[in-house]
Amino acid sequence: MSQTRSNGSERVVLNVEKLRIHYATPQGEVIAVSDISFDLYEGETLGLVGESGCGKSTTAYGILQLVQPPGYIVHGSIKVDGTEVLDLSEEELRSFRWTGLSLIPQGAMNSLNPTMRVKDQIIDVIEAHEGKQTDKKALRERIYDLFAKVGLPNRIYNMYPHELSGGMKQRVCIAMGVALHPTVVIADEATSALDVVVQRIVAQTLIQVKDEIGVSLIVIGHDMGLLAQIVDRIAVMYAGKMVEIAPVESIYAEPLHPYTKLLIDSIPSIKERKPLRITEGITHDPRNPPSGCIFRLRCPFAWEHCAEVEPLPIQVDRKHEVACHMFDEQFEERRAHAFATTANP
Ligand SMILES: Nc1ncnc2c1ncn2[C@@H]1O[C@H](COP(=O)(O)OP(=O)(O)OP(=O)(O)O)[C@@H](O)[C@H]1O
Ligand SMILES: [Mg+2]
Repeated sequence: MSQTRSNGSERVVLNVEKLRIHYATPQGEVIAVSDISFDLYEGETLGLVGESGCGKSTTAYGILQLVQPPGYIVHGSIKVDGTEVLDLSEEELRSFRWTGLSLIPQGAMNSLNPTMRVKDQIIDVIEAHEGKQTDKKALRERIYDLFAKVGLPNRIYNMYPHELSGGMKQRVCIAMGVALHPTVVIADEATSALDVVVQRIVAQTLIQVKDEIGVSLIVIGHDMGLLAQIVDRIAVMYAGKMVEIAPVESIYAEPLHPYTKLLIDSIPSIKERKPLRITEGITHDPRNPPSGCIFRLRCPFAWEHCAEVEPLPIQVDRKHEVACHMFDEQFEERRAHAFATTANP
């Protein structure tokens, strides 16, 4: 899926084309990511959402070439500033990670080394790529500067992770992720496992750092409400497929894919008390996807055609793409009827 950024630069820094990733399990091939394509623009923040198990983390790992066996990339193309990541050697990849692409992994704060001081963990990242730093004072200043960018006090320099709060640990992970000024940062659930106030502060920190350092950002998350406040565009995944991608304001005002509608409808609201909408049904077995549309078994609008033909992304307007047959030109009447009879599917 490719479209223009909602605002700002139109230079593509990351281009993912037909990326497909499987896990080879004894019970069969799990199709975790199924031919997804999208662009990320310079300075943009793209939110990647979808229910648990839909392939968000696998996509992130795929982009960084970090998928672990039994996972493997079946095919695809991942270009960062024109460089094909899949063509890089192991050694080239090592230096490309952190400088070209960097990942703040899911549960990152729990992966900090409990036996190492914060400063040493950050120094490790810097020295692994830039070699031994002899000017210790300059190195400390550089780390203080990183702390300032992510809102951490200098006093934590000599501390161990267990001496920090969850929010502080997450900021240390953000500091490590941006330490080498990568082109693209992927933050996988960077705010999960934090209380709601700290979640918002950490999310805000991510955006500030992004703007200050000038990186492009992919934020993976579940919380559509939180994402709405920080991202430019949202990409919605369902069972390994990208079903819709659009600027945040149009996806909230007018979600097109029935799954996106359900996701947005399930955001709880205090102002307007309504029954909590849950997305009925369970996802199919990822080793045995249904024919045609991936969502048809849970879709309130599905008809025979959806079982026969896989919907391809349709450009509804310059910035909004959706993979749903209701937006095929020949089914316009069906769409009008479905939306008229079910204002709230
Ligand atoms: N090591 C593995 N072996 C087999 N299947 C796996 C493995 N890791 C992930 N999967 C499967 O791949 C699919 C995608 O998983 P992934 O972790 O990418 O989802 P996710 O969207 O990040 O979920 P969450 O929101 O829970 O983090 C799931 O069906 C999962 O069961
Ligand atoms: Mg995940």
